Amino acid sequence: MSDERLIVALDVPNALAGLNLAEKLGDTVSFYKIGLGMLTGGGLALANELKQDHGKRIFLDMKLFDIGATVENAVRGLAQFDLDFLTVHGDPHVVRAAKQGAAGSDLKILAVTILTSLDRQDLDASLIKPGQVSDLVQERAGLAFDAGADGVIASPQEASLIRGLSESDGKLIVTPGVRPAGAALGDQKRVATPQKAIADGADFIVVGRPIWQAENPKAAAQAIQDELKSV
Ligand code: C5P
Repeated sequence: MSDERLIVALDVPNALAGLNLAEKLGDTVSFYKIGLGMLTGGGLALANELKQDHGKRIFLDMKLFDIGATVENAVRGLAQFDLDFLTVHGDPHVVRAAKQGAAGSDLKILAVTILTSLDRQDLDASLIKPGQVSDLVQERAGLAFDAGADGVIASPQEASLIRGLSESDGKLIVTPGVRPAGAALGDQKRVATPQKAIADGADFIVVGRPIWQAENPKAAAQAIQDELKSV
């Protein structure tokens, strides 16, 4: 069985391409992330197939945000699909509602603190209170944990800050923005190697393009699995 700490982001155009990639990766990868782009192209059916027919674990990256009643209903519906992780925005009312919707299932609710693509200028434009982004990330992570989140999504740099919070004890940190040494960054700005992300407190790493854009995706995934063996 491969190391479940590597989650591969299936950011390919449609469900068929996702299934092809998963079949290529075979036993090298046992956990997949399905995001919004894929969800509008057959992502839920793909999630089901990967789970039921291939025995994979599934992380649905939907970043839900709405009034509590709607979030609760949406999550209750999704909880029927035997998924593993689901993202919601880390606002306390959203996290509480998502946990209620997930009650009775094994679905883990992961909170997004502040999108890693946003800087202080973006936060000003959205009227978010003053303060350094890193401080706000820590504060929102603490609030999400208090509201019952099972974990948070965090950049590698944020992972160590969040691990420093006492509220993070026993909670999951899932980290995108991971690049093997020498890999292209794409649009990721704050990156770390798989080893460093885990050493800084991540429980799971999410890797997309360095695997699915590779000439040999299975070899690229295996190289990351080999690196994880040493941490
Ligand atoms: O291709 P790459 O490895 O950059 O993919 C990272 C994945 O993690 C993408 O699916 C991206 O949407 C997601 N993600 C991210 N940063 C966040 C939250 C999710 O890169 N803050």
